[in-house]
Amino acid sequence: MQRRKFLKNSTLGTAGILSAPLIASQASTNPATYSLPQQTTPIVLATWDVANATSRAWEVLREGASSLDAVEQGVMVEEADESNQTVGKGGRPDRDGQVTLDACIMDQDGNCGSVVYLRNVVHAVSVARKVMEETPHVMLAGDGAEKFAYEHGFPKEELLTQQSRKEWEEWKKTSQYKPIINIENHDTIGMLAIDHQGNISGACTTSGMAYKVAGRIGDSPIIGAGLFVDNEVGGATATGVGEEVVRTVGSFLIVELMRQGKSPQQACEIAVKRIVDKNPGYREFQVGFIALNKKGETGGYCIQPGFNYRTYSEEGHHLTPAASYISN
Ligand code: GLY
Repeated sequence: MQRRKFLKNSTLGTAGILSAPLIASQASTNPATYSLPQQTTPIVLATWDVANATSRAWEVLREGASSLDAVEQGVMVEEADESNQTVGKGGRPDRDGQVTLDACIMDQDGNCGSVVYLRNVVHAVSVARKVMEETPHVMLAGDGAEKFAYEHGFPKEELLTQQSRKEWEEWKKTSQYKPIINIENHDTIGMLAIDHQGNISGACTTSGMAYKVAGRIGDSPIIGAGLFVDNEVGGATATGVGEEVVRTVGSFLIVELMRQGKSPQQACEIAVKRIVDKNPGYREFQVGFIALNKKGETGGYCIQPGFNYRTYSEEGHHLTPAASYISN
């Protein structure tokens, strides 16, 4: 990271005296870095129709705070919302009745933090940010993550609500203990933002697949799978069946495709097609990606119809139904 900052600063600092051939040779190793202008008009986008979350993130950006603060505070809205049964408090439990949360966060300098199988703490994304900022590690799991959260002042809270318990008890009657894939076609919140300084950050948080096998972890807390940001290029985040996203390291793939010159939309489409091509069962599940590049261009694509994403920019709030591989 230090090296990266040094290279960036020295490139900017000596721009006036760099010879044209040197600039050209740098550009050829990383076209997206050097051909894209810096975006300074803030924008936030998130998976699914989470208007309260994108509004909160937009408010934070408008006040001049960082994209990191914006994505954290944005997704916290969904973590606290008990009616959202796929994220945070009120999330559907695993098949043994435990609500376990996975989340990660990544900033403009490539710093990242993550928690997996976190119990009894609502704001998994904020614990992930603490892991990033207060430890030399990237990922904490289970009891260790929970202990770390309490040590950093996070309150202990029951995450299983009456509603989620009732549904789980119903599910047990007929389920034969099979997890439900993509219940209600709604899932993880992944959020990306650019701030006034043109810096990109992202966050991703989920309670995971409903009635999953105890101990199961999806893509959402895995940097590169559920979320990836490279501030020179852009960011991407995923929703849907995490196992398929992990297999393709989907978010990293999208950022690398953007680095090679693909638009966010093209990059999301290629990543979805990669999953489809490798998976005869693709009609049975949903995966969707959203992406943002340094110019502030956005894109989204999914396997099944029904996935949409929210953007909030100076042009206002928009809900965009993502194009899908399987047509309506
Ligand atoms: N995308 C969320 C999960 O699979 O856990």
